[in-house]
This record gives sequence, C-alpha cells and structure tokens, in this order.
Amino acid sequence: MAIINIEEAKRNVEQVGFLDVDIDSGLNLFEEIKELKKEKNAILLAHYYQEDDIQDVADYIGDSLGLAQQAEKTTADIIVFAGVHFMAETAKILNPDKKVLLPDLKAGCSLSDSAPPDLFKKFKDEHPGHTVISYINCSAGIKALSDIICTSSNAKQIVESLPQEEKIIFAPDKNLGAYINKKTGRNMVLWNGTCMVHEIFSKEKIVKLKVRHPDAKVIAHPECEDVVLQEADFIGSTTQLLKYTEKDVANEFIVATETGILHQMQKNSPNKLFIPAPPDNSCACNDCPHMKLNTLEKLYLCMKYESPELKMEENLRKAALKPIKRMLEISAKLGL
Ligand code: 13P
Ligand code: SF4
Repeated sequence: MAIINIEEAKRNVEQVGFLDVDIDSGLNLFEEIKELKKEKNAILLAHYYQEDDIQDVADYIGDSLGLAQQAEKTTADIIVFAGVHFMAETAKILNPDKKVLLPDLKAGCSLSDSAPPDLFKKFKDEHPGHTVISYINCSAGIKALSDIICTSSNAKQIVESLPQEEKIIFAPDKNLGAYINKKTGRNMVLWNGTCMVHEIFSKEKIVKLKVRHPDAKVIAHPECEDVVLQEADFIGSTTQLLKYTEKDVANEFIVATETGILHQMQKNSPNKLFIPAPPDNSCACNDCPHMKLNTLEKLYLCMKYESPELKMEENLRKAALKPIKRMLEISAKLGL
C-alpha cells in the first residue's frame, strides 16, 4: 500500500529502497521525465537490461564500460542511473560532487553479492604477490581491494596489459575468469562467484533450439558457463553482442544473456528474429530480478524528488577510484 506523504516516503527510502508514493495516473511519465531532465540538468544512463520503457527515455544506453565512460565525462549536475547498485556506485566514485540517483536502492546483483569484502580480503591475503583484477560487477568494498577493474568488453585487454608471468587473482565471476584464462593462456586464480541469470542457460535446450533454427547464430555473454559458451558463434559484452547482430549476415539469433537486450536488437534490426536462449527450467530466469526492480514510475519519482540518492564514504570512494581510473586509462589508450 503506497504512502501519500512524500516526506514520510523520503524518511522510509533507505528501508523500502524507493519512494513508495502514489502517482497521478493521468501523468505522461515519458514527457514528465524528459521535462525533469531539462529542468534539473540531469543525464539518464541506462543499462540494456532495463525494461523497454526506461531504455526508450534514456539519454544513453550501454554496457558497463560505456556507462562508466559516460559517467566519467558528463557535465550534467545530476546522474540518474537506471541500472543496479554497483553501476550507480561507479558513477558516484567518478563524480563525488554530483548527485547520483537510482530508482531503487535495492537493485543489487547476485554476482556482486557473491564477494563480501571481508572474505575477499582473507582470500587476497592467502595469495600474496598477486595483482587483483576485479570485474566491475562488484561492490565499492571489493573495488577498493583491487588493482584494476575490467568489464566484459575489455577483460581480455586488461589482463593482457599485465606481463605474462604476473600472478593474478580474478574476481568475482569465475565464468568470465575461466573464459579469459582460456583466451589468454593465463592461469589466474578465480574467486568462486557467478551471475544467477547467466548460469541458468541450458546447453541441451540450446542444442535442440539450433536443430529447429539451423541458420540461427548463437551469441552469448561471457558470464555464461563454459558448456554454453562452447555452443556460441560469438561471445561478447552486451554492446558487442548488439553490434554483432547488426553487422552479421544471419537473420536469426539465439541470445544467451538477459532478455532486456532484445529490445535494442529488435529496434536496430527489425527484420531479424531474436530468440532468448532457454533456461534449464520453465521459469523466466533470464530476466534479472535486480535490474527489473527499476520501473518507469520509480524512475519518475526519484527524478522528481531527488531520492534515493547514492552516498559513499570518502575514504572508500578514493580507494575504489584508483582501479577504475586504471581501467579507463588502459581502455582509452587502446581505443576501447
Ligand atoms: P555488460 O553490459 O558490461 O556486458 O554487463 C552485463 C551485466 O551482467 C551487467 O550486469
Ligand atoms: Fe548481476 Fe547478473 Fe543481474 Fe547483471 S544480470 S546485474 S551480473 S545478477
């Protein structure tokens, strides 16, 4: 049951995660959000896994690297981040003087949650002399314990920027880590984390689907398990997958990543067929429940009342900034 009083909703926001107030059903939220962006000099950054309506009203839609690069260069006063918590954190780490808003504070990430900083610190201490490369899908606490951050679009290049003999810990995604080990011939020590969405795809069902769609290309995100990646014609970050579907001659694609990306794929290639890769049971598990906590209504409310706002302790922010900057510098040098 929604609360009517906005001040009460603001007081409850930490606990509830979002502003739980009723919205006038007559409002055109697309127009309202566009107006709020202008009025407040706010930029709306959205990940491809957000619901279609949010993607359609965003100023920039991208993968984690693209979003971090946009957050680094924006001149807006307010960054509204339609994504999950670690993405908004990254924007705040890069912009201590800007207000960073997110529609729902509780939009987390199973992969990020798989690496609690205290346990990771112990793991790091057990592996002295190792450089820590962390996938951006981790908390600010893990970033602060890392030497370099990477995303799925630059992980290979970031690893290869270090000498072949360098000892490396890769966290938190063991699937991405194993994939990069394979690609680079390294033997990085892997933290045992996974994404609940990407580990759900069924190799058997994908193989069956390929029989029914013999001309379809299988495309997969590197957070998927190795058995699924083995079936893929192309592996890449969300932006790389999207670009592949635009350029490739195939007319059908079996897509092994979160379903939100299908919106842009279909928009950019209206005559092609996109089939979500089937999960290993009958639920809609390839929708990320964290990403999908954000709604157009919550987005409108957070922009109108500038809450919830992401806040971060300054020492943690400074420590987490260093490895992110290193990633952005290496990426810029390589033209990524
Ligand atoms: P990218 O968009 O960087 O490929 O990441 C996918 C993802 O799982 C984000 O949570
Ligand atoms: Fe985290 Fe996976 Fe959801 Fe991405 S899709 S936010 S990695 S749980």
